[in-house]
Amino acid sequence: MSATLAGSPSLAESGADVQSMFNRVARRYDAANRVMSAGIDVVWRKKAIARLLDGLGEAPRVLDLGAGTLDGALEIARRSPGAQVAAADFAREMLRAGRAKLPAEKPGRIDTHAADGHHLPYRDDAFDGAFSAFCVRNLRDLPRGLRELRRVVRPGGRVVILEFLRPERTRFFFDRIWNAHVLPLLGWAVSGDRAAYRYLPESIAHFRSVVEFEALLREVGFAAVECKPLFPSGIATMVVAS
Ligand SMILES: C[S@@+](CC[C@H](N)C(=O)[O-])C[C@H]1O[C@@H](n2cnc3c(N)ncnc32)[C@H](O)[C@@H]1O
Repeated sequence: MSATLAGSPSLAESGADVQSMFNRVARRYDAANRVMSAGIDVVWRKKAIARLLDGLGEAPRVLDLGAGTLDGALEIARRSPGAQVAAADFAREMLRAGRAKLPAEKPGRIDTHAADGHHLPYRDDAFDGAFSAFCVRNLRDLPRGLRELRRVVRPGGRVVILEFLRPERTRFFFDRIWNAHVLPLLGWAVSGDRAAYRYLPESIAHFRSVVEFEALLREVGFAAVECKPLFPSGIATMVVAS
């Protein structure tokens, strides 16, 4: 737990079984995502990955932590044809669903690794950059996971995180109507898993705010941290740390 570091414990830090939940929903995960976000998650990933790769060179080594069904890893490989991507996730079924989307040509540019973000199987400074979309909210020990991200990225490299951070003030439509009622219903309808899609809004409501998350990133050793609210209405935040 993170009692001494910025913020109160998230649902995952309080013991939610995130791993089996993602293994359960893996086969319907992409369909649920597209319906619930009306495709805006694709735009967020593109924007964050453009920022990640900016200035990292022609052949960057990139980690995607919590890579899930590989949408982020595939976008990194598309945008940077010379990149070598390590896609790590502790839910094997998510990676399995993602591997079905890998193009047959150029095998090996995206390697999938069943790995836990709390103890990554990579040496210090192994990567030029790391990307993580909608994963860190699910970490059982958030400070430890963020320290691992910092450890495996070389000095001068960059970490870009996409996440739903807890809003400072409740937004009537997004928090009371959309997140609380519409999202869980849509997720349930598409995936057939009611609990998983109730976890989503609850985990956002219990997660760190922008201010808390930024403070935590600095506490674990990132010198520069920038948080950018994304369209629409800042429901997702892009965090750039180095
Ligand atoms: C909401 S999904 C996001 C997947 C993908 N990044 C995307 O943008 O669609 C969160 C992913 O993080 C993974 N995850 C959560 N905690 C993890 C941990 N401790 N170690 C590795 N992966 C983790 C889950 O298994 C899941 O695949």
